[in-house]
Amino acid sequence: MQLKDVAVLITGGGSGLGAATARAMAAKGARIGVIDQSKENAEKVAAEVKGVALHADVTDEDGIKAAIAKAEAAHGVARVLMNCPASAARSVSSARTVFIRWRSSLASSTSI
Ligand SMILES: NC(=O)c1ccc[n+]([C@@H]2O[C@H](COP(=O)([O-])OP(=O)(O)OC[C@H]3O[C@@H](n4cnc5c(N)ncnc54)[C@H](O)[C@@H]3O)[C@@H](O)[C@H]2O)c1
Repeated sequence: MQLKDVAVLITGGGSGLGAATARAMAAKGARIGVIDQSKENAEKVAAEVKGVALHADVTDEDGIKAAIAKAEAAHGVARVLMNCPASAARSVSSARTVFIRWRSSLASSTSI
């Protein structure tokens, strides 16, 4: 997969599977937006992968909207979305929330 300069959003990117995904994609040149409800985790991993820290809870639509806008200002419209937050019980609905917001940012992009 070619990831050089590709903007990527990773929810739950501050730890575990999300952080490992951030590191692997950054190693291939991707520009990572690390979304996490833990500000500390988001900042730690974002610094490590030279990405942008986005402090937001995936269940908070307004917070996710703001996080996507911040990532877009830094890296352009994200082409890849990885959903890795830990809360399995909420994962389907929260992934849907993030996906809807991400899809609308893609749709409003003039670059596609
Ligand atoms: N770690 C693995 O090898 C593995 C393998 C298969 C599946 N999974 C699944 O992947 C998911 C993540 O697991 P993990 O081991 O990476 O967990 P983890 O606890 O190490 O990391 C999860 C991250 O998500 C963040 N987070 C939790 N709820 C959030 C929310 N509402 N909004 C934003 N960020 C939130 C946490 O702050 C944390 O930084 C789980 O559902 C797990 O079942 C993990």
